[in-house]
Amino acid sequence: MAVKTDIEAVLQSLTLEEKISLLAGANFWETVEVPGKVPSVKTSDGPNGARGADFSGGTPAACFPAASCVAATFDTAAAYKVGEALADETHSKGARCLLAPTVCIHRHPLGGRNFESFSEDPLLAGKLSSQVIQGVQSKGVAATIKHFAANEQETDRFTVNETVSERALREIYLRPFEIAIKEAKPWAVMTAYNHVNGTHCDSNDFLLKQVLRGDWAWDGLVMSDWGGTNSTAAAINSGLDLEMPGPTRLRKPEDVIAAIKAGKTSEAAVEERARRVLKFLDILKVFEDPETPPEQAIDKPEVRSLIRETAGHGAVLLKNDHGILPLSKDKVKGKKIAVLGLAKTALAHGGGSASVNAHYKITPWDALQSALGDSAELSFSPAFHTQRLLSPIAKDDPAVGSVTGLDGKPGWTMEWRNVKTNEAEDTTHGVSESNLLLAPDKGVGKMVAFVGDFTPAESGVHYLGCTGLGSALVHIDEELVFDQGGPCKDAMGFLFGALKEDEFTRDFEAGKTYRICIESNPPSGIKGLELLNDRAAVRLGLQPASAHDRDLTSEAVAAARDADYALIFTGHDPKWETEGQDQASFHLPRAGSQDALVAAVAAVNSNVVVVNSTGVAVALPWLEQVSGLVQAWFGGQECGNAIADVITGAVTPEGNLPFSWPRQIEDAPAHGNFPGEYDAQGQLQVEYKEGVFVGYRHYDRVDASKLRFPFGFGLSYTTFDVGNLSASRTGGGGGDAFALSVDVANTGNLAGGVLVQVYAGPVTPREDCPVKQLVAFQKVRLGAGEKKAGVQLTASARDLGYFDEGRGKWVVPKGKYRFILARSAAEEVGSVEVEVAEELVYAP
Ligand code: BGC
Repeated sequence: MAVKTDIEAVLQSLTLEEKISLLAGANFWETVEVPGKVPSVKTSDGPNGARGADFSGGTPAACFPAASCVAATFDTAAAYKVGEALADETHSKGARCLLAPTVCIHRHPLGGRNFESFSEDPLLAGKLSSQVIQGVQSKGVAATIKHFAANEQETDRFTVNETVSERALREIYLRPFEIAIKEAKPWAVMTAYNHVNGTHCDSNDFLLKQVLRGDWAWDGLVMSDWGGTNSTAAAINSGLDLEMPGPTRLRKPEDVIAAIKAGKTSEAAVEERARRVLKFLDILKVFEDPETPPEQAIDKPEVRSLIRETAGHGAVLLKNDHGILPLSKDKVKGKKIAVLGLAKTALAHGGGSASVNAHYKITPWDALQSALGDSAELSFSPAFHTQRLLSPIAKDDPAVGSVTGLDGKPGWTMEWRNVKTNEAEDTTHGVSESNLLLAPDKGVGKMVAFVGDFTPAESGVHYLGCTGLGSALVHIDEELVFDQGGPCKDAMGFLFGALKEDEFTRDFEAGKTYRICIESNPPSGIKGLELLNDRAAVRLGLQPASAHDRDLTSEAVAAARDADYALIFTGHDPKWETEGQDQASFHLPRAGSQDALVAAVAAVNSNVVVVNSTGVAVALPWLEQVSGLVQAWFGGQECGNAIADVITGAVTPEGNLPFSWPRQIEDAPAHGNFPGEYDAQGQLQVEYKEGVFVGYRHYDRVDASKLRFPFGFGLSYTTFDVGNLSASRTGGGGGDAFALSVDVANTGNLAGGVLVQVYAGPVTPREDCPVKQLVAFQKVRLGAGEKKAGVQLTASARDLGYFDEGRGKWVVPKGKYRFILARSAAEEVGSVEVEVAEELVYAP
């Protein structure tokens, strides 16, 4: 039988120093242990897989579809199952706390982390994250909903100040948190890096005291984002329980005690924070079972199937002229299919803490080979250059060359040198590539050098690109060929491999050996991610000009000209869509290469289908020229199979867009106010001027031509009738909800799923309110010809109204409202009117 831990007794047994020690991490992932009294617990990222302790190349893990893909399923049951499987994965990494889900709103299509977050719509984001959390916690693992709050951009994410009205916060940005926190009660919340209305989120009384612990009466653990604790006393006073990661920067016992003595905080506040940490540990059964087991890679068939099914159901069919899709085995028998672009790359996840060292990744090429290979004739051409950075020089790459270290063996020699004497104090041989993104502890305060003898595979011009965090010098045979001339200007871009790097060229001769030496000093003065200071890091990339300047377009066009169908795979790899950076452009990278290729192929082949893998909307300048378009997101380790399932018709597409897809970036509601402007002090300021008019709430008020595809849009290979909407007030005297009923029929010849989407708004729209808002949704799956009458949904009455800032309450004015049944936010199918006889008012 489980033993109940007496948290108060444990708390009282601790000295003040011990209590303080609990308020920060011990290291990057674990909390502090107080020997004999309090065990520690391990956390792990993240939203689409539990990756364990390593940032890259760690213990293999299941890689799930990114949240924007899960959102496109609009399937609450799938979200719950993903949550359950994520909990098992967390256990397999010896952790009991998952740093997920990410629920911030897709405010702008260039948002770097939109992919790992659900939607522009707060109800959809809230309901799905609630299911993920319930799934995770059903297995005893803590979910950590993040990042609280308004973390909608990556540019200057540590320091940016966002000016947002309380109304926009309550109705849009806090709403997914509110739904998930009230429904699913996550055991932890992670604060965001940014400031909201002038105050950093980790010490923001409005967010933490008034809203989270006050209005929502939530009593879990608040932890900071990594490096996102910005003060000692203020953060303790506001209710930030845990500074992460450790060891502490701002909660050293002597500093906290000095703050108590100075009256800036109190022992009572420290004790309250420690109590929360202990309660959190107790929920996770750490007192009963203090062991942190080693990390394991457990690759389960049922998880493979769940990932494949979820990614397939999330894929959105955006265009299908003349029923070009599906390309079934029968249809393509004996035909030639030119498979072009990123087909041999599995775009499974985005970059940053949501990236996972997947057990395996299925590329679209491999999946199409096994689905169609014995029927159609498939050819492949890479079609365009997309790489953001030149690849590091590997110890042995037949296409580039080989490297021998100072020990005479394959690999680089890496030295940690004393900055004053330039003497090597620690040396490692056999290092696999010229790339170091984060210095280990032994490198703190030291200069790093990579030394190796490079033997190129071919003669001629080669491109090189180098960046060092503190500085960077490259010598080839003792000649200085590159000097960065100072510290790196974009530490965050460097860390996430998403830098813009100026390339330079050198001539090499095949078979000859060149001594390359790359040196970099430890950086200082990095703001925000202070933990990078003093840790030298550097990379050198290289590519022969024959590969760099190869005319891939002509090769692909020639292959397409000769084919019956051209299947083009476009998208963002994790360097182009990543945490730490907002997207460089609305146009697919690099420098228009993907757009130009699609247009060129469409000019020679009239059966073009594009499969796009991004977490966001991108420009589609060639849309009119192609017959088919599938938005495939980042589908996790089974991404290739999920795409092949939809392409071949093994799965009937049923995904719907979780955001509005603008025609041009200028049409996005936040355009002009993203990512903000620098003030005189050099601080980035961004004003959420669009207020509550985010996504379809904006497009509903402007010309329809601004949209490529509306929120909620998605085609199928079968047809559905949805209709007969009715609405009646429920909830007794309070009248808190409306019961909705809808009839659905699959009128086609294939089994499939359809999204029932219901919006609501006042019959006479108000200038200061959205025309309508999503109030209920449900995915319904039916066999060919099957009907389902009376599909039941529920809408909260509060969602008919708005947040009244003056009164500090939710208000539904008396009057007439419409519930609208729709195929997308831009296509009504039917509506019913209801009357609210008396004004409804709800506490915040
Ligand atoms: C991210 C968090 C993540 C943490 C730990 C931060 O940079 O913003 O989402 O959980 O790192 O990796």
